[in-house]
Parts: sequence; structure tokens; C-alpha cells
Amino acid sequence: MATTSPKTASYIEESEKYSAHNYHPLPVVLEKAERVWVWDVEGKKYMDCLSSYSAINQGHRHPKIINALKEQADRLTLTSRGFYNDKMGSWLKLLCELTGYEKALPMNTGAEAVETALKTARKWGQYVKGVPAGSQEIIVCANNFHGRTITIITFSSDAQTKDGFGPYTPGFVTIPYGDAKALEKAITKNTVAFMVEPIQGEAGVVVPPKGYLKECAEICRKHNVLLVADEVQTGFCRTGKWFACQHEGVRADIMVLGKALGGGMYPVSAIVCDDKIMSVFKPGSRPKKDMRPYFKRKCKRHCKPCPQVAICPTNGERAHPSDS
Ligand SMILES: Cc1ncc(COP(=O)(O)O)c(C=O)c1O
Repeated sequence: MATTSPKTASYIEESEKYSAHNYHPLPVVLEKAERVWVWDVEGKKYMDCLSSYSAINQGHRHPKIINALKEQADRLTLTSRGFYNDKMGSWLKLLCELTGYEKALPMNTGAEAVETALKTARKWGQYVKGVPAGSQEIIVCANNFHGRTITIITFSSDAQTKDGFGPYTPGFVTIPYGDAKALEKAITKNTVAFMVEPIQGEAGVVVPPKGYLKECAEICRKHNVLLVADEVQTGFCRTGKWFACQHEGVRADIMVLGKALGGGMYPVSAIVCDDKIMSVFKPGSRPKKDMRPYFKRKCKRHCKPCPQVAICPTNGERAHPSDS
């Protein structure tokens, strides 16, 4: 292996000094990229076969995405969910049309989308399937990788991933990957969902036996259990089709998306499903600051510009949080 130059070593040293030691990267310091190519600080060119675990399926700095990002950044970068904006509807429509589902719920990281899928399944289980509150069970596969939140590491098979992070979240049952019979055996009257990667990514790119996903989908349908496909890594053409489930003609009840959904620019994730499932969410079941009570009261001091004055998205009424 080539020895590390003083220049490369100094970048690595700085990162290691100030970063938590939660990762062990290769000793390569990248400074620019274009399409499939990346260059390190020594000027050495590499073909990026990792593509950030599929977050850069479109290639580095795709010109269309860069232009859209720049154009948008010059107009409007952030709106809270307290308002509508002129892009969200068309983006959701496009995502729904592309995936073939009726609704989409966006987030940022893949782990957040997984958490949202789990919450959706639990809520659906309680309010639609009729599982007693707090008894919902979700089946997952051994050697899965779905992210790094406390709930998600609860059902990781990797002891190191979990070490020291307890107590964990109850309600998960683990079965071997690629074994549809094990799925049917594990289902109880309280099972609300089976979550699976169509191809296991972090486990070492494990392709399940032919027909596995199809059989799992049939078992789920038979037992009124939601099939949740985590396509965070396999989605957006990573496996030769838009989504890996399509290789077996499977339509999951909930599809979890991330990584390449952000075009390699910033984290964007989502779940997609049909309205009969997504309708378990009502205003307030997503954490957000609800400004609506303020709009019911008339602002008494809107004569002066004030950063705290909220404007009602429907009737344009202005109100101040401290107005009673
Ligand atoms: C299948 C799968 N699900 C979820 C995640 C978590 O995504 P993120 O790292 O954006 O939280 C990953 C990350 O690699 C993944 O491979």
C-alpha cells in the first residue's frame, strides 16, 4: 500500500482530531468530483465505484441537478410545514407517479424514513388492523441494515452496533433472510408488518433466492401484514430497475426511499404508500410547530415589521405568538 503523503496525512489528522471515531475511512482525501470520477488532494483520479452507498447514483454533480439547486437557492431555500410552497406539490406528484403510490411523506435521512415506516405500520396495526395498543409486532431479517437510530439498532444483528446503547425498543422479531417459511411461522395475531431489504446492502450485497420477495408478499397479504420494502440503497436504478422489488413484480405496501432521492446534493428520504395506509397520519402526528392557534386571534401590533409575526397561509391574516 502506498505511503500517505504529508499533505494527505494532515487532512486526516485534522478530521480525526475533531471527529467522533465512529467510522474508519480509507486514507484518501477527496477534493473534487465529476460524474463517476473523483480526485484526491494529490491530484490522483479514481473511479468512484462506491457512489456513497448509492446516494450518488446519478453521478457526482449532475449538471441538471446542480442547476436546479442553484436556481432554487437563489429564490427560496426553506419553508416550514406551517405554509405551502410552490414546489412541494409537484415534487410529491412526481414521486408518487414514479413509484406508483398515492401518497408520499418526505424526510431527510434513510433512517428517518425507516422510523416513519415503522410508526406508520404500528399506527395502521392499532387503528386499522385492531391490534391492541402497545402489542404491535414487526418482523425483520437477520443481518439487516436499516440505519442507526436507537429503535433501528434494536433489531440489528451486529453486536458492535448496539453495544452500550440500551435500553432498546420492544416489538421486533428477527427471522433469517431469504426464508419465506420462517416469515409465515413468525407471524402472530399482533404482527403488523414485515420489513425487508429487497437485496441486503450492508450485509455484503446478499441477493435472496429467486421468488423470495413474491412469496413474502403473498404471505403478508394472506395474514393482513404490511410488507415494508426498504429500498433506501436498492432504489433509483441501483439494481437495473427503478426499484429492486420490480425484479419480482412485487408492490410493497410501504416503500422506503432515500439516498439517490437527494440527487447527491443533500439528504432527502421518503416513504410512499397508498392513502388507506397513509391516512393514519393526522395533523399533529408529525412533530412540527403548529401555528394555527395564533391565526384564530387577531394581531394587535402588526403595524411594525416583526420576525415573530406569522402570516396565515389561507387568509393572509397576521398574528403575533404572544397575542391573546
Ligand atoms: C437499506 C438501508 N436502509 C436505511 C439506511 C439508512 O440511511 P441513512 O444513512 O440515510 O440514515 C441505509 C444506509 O445505508 C440502508 O442501506
